[in-house]
Amino acid sequence: MDYKGVFANELYHAIEKKVEYENIIKRIEKPSQESYGDFAFPCFDLAKIMRRSPQQIAQELAVKITHPLFEKCEPVGAYINLYLEKKEASSTVIGEVLESGETYGTSEVGEGGKVPIDMSSPNIAKPFSMGHLRSTVIGNSLALILAKIGYEPIRINHLGDWGTQFGKLIAAYLKWGDEAKVRQNTIKELLALYIKFHEEIEKDATLEDEGRSWFKRLEDGGQQAVTLWKWFREESLQEFNRIYELMDISFDSTNGEAFYNDKMDRVVHLLDDKGLLQESEGALVVEMDDDNLPPCLIKKKDGATLYATRDLAAAIYRYETFGFSQSLYVVGNEQRLHFKQLIEVLKKLEFNWADHMHHISFGMMLKDGKKMSTRKGKVVLLEEVLEEAIQLAKVNIETKNPSLINKDIIAQHVGVGAVMFHDLKNDRRNDIDFSLESMLRVEGETGPYVQYTNARACSILRKGHYSQGEIQGVDDEKAWPIIMLLNDFPEVIQKAGRDFDPSLVAKYVIDLSRSFNKYYGQVRILDDEYQKVGRLNLVAAVSIVLTEGLRLLGLHAPQEM
Ligand code: ARG
Repeated sequence: MDYKGVFANELYHAIEKKVEYENIIKRIEKPSQESYGDFAFPCFDLAKIMRRSPQQIAQELAVKITHPLFEKCEPVGAYINLYLEKKEASSTVIGEVLESGETYGTSEVGEGGKVPIDMSSPNIAKPFSMGHLRSTVIGNSLALILAKIGYEPIRINHLGDWGTQFGKLIAAYLKWGDEAKVRQNTIKELLALYIKFHEEIEKDATLEDEGRSWFKRLEDGGQQAVTLWKWFREESLQEFNRIYELMDISFDSTNGEAFYNDKMDRVVHLLDDKGLLQESEGALVVEMDDDNLPPCLIKKKDGATLYATRDLAAAIYRYETFGFSQSLYVVGNEQRLHFKQLIEVLKKLEFNWADHMHHISFGMMLKDGKKMSTRKGKVVLLEEVLEEAIQLAKVNIETKNPSLINKDIIAQHVGVGAVMFHDLKNDRRNDIDFSLESMLRVEGETGPYVQYTNARACSILRKGHYSQGEIQGVDDEKAWPIIMLLNDFPEVIQKAGRDFDPSLVAKYVIDLSRSFNKYYGQVRILDDEYQKVGRLNLVAAVSIVLTEGLRLLGLHAPQEM
């Protein structure tokens, strides 16, 4: 129920529409203490318009606000504190959650607008890095949140599968490669070949040209080059897929950079027609207006296109294919300049839709304060990290609940979920520290804590033989913070979608878990026959919202742990 909206509307009429409704609702606060009521409105800004002291205004307005949903409205200094009619609100909110079930919090704010989300996007023949993991997890959660509020997300894995390095890789493979080894351990072997190629160049400079000519053959569709490239790509993708499967994440498209090979000439022509291309040491560039930005490289001296050229083609392609309402790029902070350049070039081409492109940047994953390296010895370290998290979760289950059925699946949901949750709970722009132990803790701000809370709620429902029937609110003060949180859920999701910020949802499920665990510690839910139905309804509502909140972050919510 939009209680805040009702309060804003009452205020709006009480001040005789002298301030716009939007300006009122935006000023309504959550009081810092429960004793100050459920909402508060500060009157300072009204003083000028109404030519009275804020204290006086609070006094005058408070008496005018009467509504059957409100218990009382009290002026305290310059504030108007509002208290909801708790019993009524509790059955309304619980009823709303139970009746909507998993659709609780769904809205149509996005009006079906399409949102391509460029996410994950690892480079083939290279290890899947922590940055790619972050992009995958954040992008996935954004897709789920945006879908919930009525957008149509399109998950795009913009694979790094094109560029001069693949010419070098082909040359290296033909010289030193071993098919069986590559098949067995693709990324490790290809990476080793690539490194060897660079070592050998030091001794033999003609290798450089050899690499270049193989890339040229690849660009022109030469059969041998294309066959090898396809093979490298497929084998790499298979390795990446193991990670995606562990996380239960999939894509609508894996069109990577190569997909734009035949779409870049057009970009170059568009730039040329507008007179935007300039020569700089034999290369073609677009100068930026902002002096702090280096020129955007479009073509190298040897005619090869670049990362930015492909991104320009991709941006145009996405606009023309989807007519997007927003276009997101979930990519690390270190590419900030690249995306600034990209957007500026598109604006110079007079594509106004470039305003709807957003670089959703994020910080680094650190270990003991240092950047994590993915290629110390073993290559696909990440898969091992996830496997280790699953192992640790399994050990926990074995000690706590050895008779649990489906242990393996649940351990996967908890272990991988812990890694994902840890990534999402902080403001994405910050660097985060990687520690499996702290991620997996059952107490604290972790995925397992939320999952465990939900499993506890499910267990109470089982013990109380809950089945959804008569909807009844709870008649106990101690449940009130939970009711208010349940009521906040739809607004939290909308804000998370508007700000591209999954951490709001993560923080929310932690708050709800804390609140519920506190209640559980204070109230014997099943003991009071008279209150039991209402309390079980509350527990069921909490479980619905925790499950849905976790889902929006990409986590499963096991009913037993
Ligand atoms: N493959 C790139 C990298 O690993 C990320 C690609 C991001 N997406 C994009 N459209 N540029 O750095």
